[in-house]
Amino acid sequence: MCSIIGYLGLNQAAPIIVKGLKRMEYRGYDSVGVATFSNNHILVRKGVGKVIEVNKAVRLDELSGTVGIGHTRWATHGMVTDTNAHPHPSSTGEIAIVHNGIIENHEELKRELEQKGYAFKSQTDSEVIANLLQYHHDETGDIKQSMTHTVSDLKGSYAFVAVFEDGTLAAARFHEPLIIGIGKEGYFISSDVLGFVEHTDEVIYLDNREFVIINTTGIQIFDFNINPVRHQITKVSKEFADVYKGEYAHFTLKEISEQPTTILNAGNNTKLELDLATDLIRHAKTLYITGSGTSYNAALVAKFLFSKYAKIKIEPIISSEVHFSHDVFEQQSILIALSQSGESADVLEAVNIAKKTGTKIISIVNIMTSSLVHLSSISIGLGCGPEIGVAATKSFTAQLAILYKIADKICNGSTGIDFAKASEAIKKILSDDSKIKEIAKKIRDVSDIYILGRGIHYPIASEASLKLKELTYIHAEGLPGGELKHGPLALMDSNTYVIMINPSDPTYSDTLTSAREIKARGAKVIGVSDKPSDVYDYWIEIPQIDESMYPLVEIIPIQLLAYYAAVEKDTDPDYPRNLAKSVTVK
Ligand code: AGP
Repeated sequence: MCSIIGYLGLNQAAPIIVKGLKRMEYRGYDSVGVATFSNNHILVRKGVGKVIEVNKAVRLDELSGTVGIGHTRWATHGMVTDTNAHPHPSSTGEIAIVHNGIIENHEELKRELEQKGYAFKSQTDSEVIANLLQYHHDETGDIKQSMTHTVSDLKGSYAFVAVFEDGTLAAARFHEPLIIGIGKEGYFISSDVLGFVEHTDEVIYLDNREFVIINTTGIQIFDFNINPVRHQITKVSKEFADVYKGEYAHFTLKEISEQPTTILNAGNNTKLELDLATDLIRHAKTLYITGSGTSYNAALVAKFLFSKYAKIKIEPIISSEVHFSHDVFEQQSILIALSQSGESADVLEAVNIAKKTGTKIISIVNIMTSSLVHLSSISIGLGCGPEIGVAATKSFTAQLAILYKIADKICNGSTGIDFAKASEAIKKILSDDSKIKEIAKKIRDVSDIYILGRGIHYPIASEASLKLKELTYIHAEGLPGGELKHGPLALMDSNTYVIMINPSDPTYSDTLTSAREIKARGAKVIGVSDKPSDVYDYWIEIPQIDESMYPLVEIIPIQLLAYYAAVEKDTDPDYPRNLAKSVTVK
């Protein structure tokens, strides 16, 4: 959830760190801070706000020193305040740390350390790491020893980077990502390659339960039992470097606009895995699919796709609910795990529970170096490039594209899906969004929006409501069209807007009937359809295509609507309040 970075090299650390933090801000962005080692002291600057704001206020990038650490926070323990922002110095100020994750036993450790005379300033769980390191360093006088004692005391999940008062960096990984970058002019350590990819594409992925010590003589990696560890240096794909907005005002708009291409590319880098996965799915005794948020909405689409075309039953389970769903998996079950990041704690937990029963895991994931890939038997890559906007857009349609490809293979190409045509249809919607911009102005001040769809369009309605919530902060609810008269109709009045997802397919007439029932109660109806109707107050036209392709296409105008309504409301579409891109805590 938070992003962490460390640098040790020939150049000034702070500007490099601030730039890296800007790129990783999608991971959490309520406060930010940097610490550097300079003239035998550790200097810390931090504050509440986005990187750009805090940097303007306290000039993070002007801290001197060629060694430093930085952090952007997504608060879990303690309010969003300057004091709770990272880095956290130890009580003597000789060590400072940045942390991503949760320290479960922080209260008990804090009590013990306070009794030993170490003082705490913040309400965070993270500060305990700084004082624990300080305590063990005071006891042993040795960085390696203090790291190993500290990690054996900590319970929870963490990646942290510490800077010591001799200019050494030390970092440890336990169930949170941590990647070392080997540059010509310095070393990097970060929760995401995006933090340093513009400086080097040579990386080492630390494994769980490993720590690293970095100083001017080089890097040394150890496991938690202090055994030295050697890792191959690998090269990261160039696509990770593509993290600029270019001509677009926001990443979210850029990513929405990339979809004519990303749906074509989905899974192309892992064709063999796609075939292997299809074979496993075809012969599975019982089949489940899991994900969170948008990825779960894609799982719901899979249920309809697989039953309609592949004639296969698949049960979607929300990842965070797996823990409470007793004994679902069997020895020969297959679980498909959907995740853009591959780091969502809920998804990883679901997968770990399933694995205990011998269930095989197929993951459909964007970040091919993620923890989810390590846990899976087969991983299919979304291949849609980095998605920086916190609201998932292109990763959703890439997930759908892969699920379509699997269904199509199982039914020997009879779904009717034609990706080239779907891509053209998306291009057409993107090429003229003037009407969508007009409707965005109308909805900017409404308090409730309902989105209705039947059959396979219901999961799209659900995804549409998630986009509207995240980007516009308007209450939005996706409903199966037929459920309207069973309760929600009571909410319809002249202040309500309802979006009907209504392409020409077998759901068309029933959805139109629901639209008339809504209209009769005075609500405003927005139709997303290839056909006009007098019932729509506003018609968002989508191209007429084979019915199989509508789900891939009809979400695009609603992503645009949510984006433009956010712009109208002057909220930040890339970084919605209170959210983070990669939810690595439970
Ligand atoms: C989508 O717009 C959200 N930001 C969120 O629901 C997201 O899809 C969810 O947290 C799952 O993330 P993942 O796909 O990276 O696992």
